Amino acid sequence: MSSAASPACDCGPLGRFVSSSLGKKAIMAVTGFVMFGFVVGHMVGNLQVFAGDGGVKLNAYAAFLKNTPALLWGTRIVVGLSLVLHVWAAATLKRLSNEARPVQYKMRKDIQASVPSRNMFWGGISLLFYVIYHLLHLTVGVASPIAGTFSHDNVYGNMVASFQNPALVGVYVFAMIALGMHLYHGLYSLFQTLGLNHPGYMPRIRTGAKVFGALIALGFSSMPVAILLGAVK
Ligand code: HEM
Repeated sequence: MSSAASPACDCGPLGRFVSSSLGKKAIMAVTGFVMFGFVVGHMVGNLQVFAGDGGVKLNAYAAFLKNTPALLWGTRIVVGLSLVLHVWAAATLKRLSNEARPVQYKMRKDIQASVPSRNMFWGGISLLFYVIYHLLHLTVGVASPIAGTFSHDNVYGNMVASFQNPALVGVYVFAMIALGMHLYHGLYSLFQTLGLNHPGYMPRIRTGAKVFGALIALGFSSMPVAILLGAVK
């Protein structure tokens, strides 16, 4: 894609970079990487649900985060800002690509986009809705199915009570598959944006991105599924 698809602005080198397609791709790469780091940390932290101690470790971990405001709010601000910038850059790139579509189709009809690549934008929108619901569900505690019984001090109890509901487990597993595919394609694109797309390495990078995407989808999905099956009570 051209780096000059947006009209040039009279706003200095940084402004011109941000208003270019390449600049927006770089913003997507950096913010995507920050959120990837958060997602890995979040998954590892939550996997303590399997500690077999009735939630002592998971609840202590959640309490530690809440009692460390610099870490909690630092993460919230950095991840929140990354999410906003990521969505803004994606929406702007999508608009630019739609505007250029007639030309692009003629030039690129020989190139087959992979399934995750084609679904990247709409998968991302689904994940955005998932994250909004997820925050209302397990952070604020105002969403079904535990709106009335939610406890800020019992993260483990909130999870166990929620995932008795097969429909909700289905929603979470579906979202985690969408997340895995999004991360697979996102990580792969990250290397291309960074220019690290030497043909000799790309097959290995693609495999690595697939493995990461699958591990994230499986790791997160294992929690609601194990709770639904009664393996975690
Ligand atoms: C099965 C999958 C998941 C489970 C069981 C889970 C569990 C939780 C729980 C229990 C909390 C509340 C933590 C607390 O109050 O201390 C939480 C918060 C959060 N989760 Fe998840 N999560 C999952 C997947 C995800 C995914 C895939 C994302 C991002 C794409 C995500 C993003 C967040 C965010 C941003 C918060 C708010 C953290 C904060 O308080 O600032 N979660 N999650």
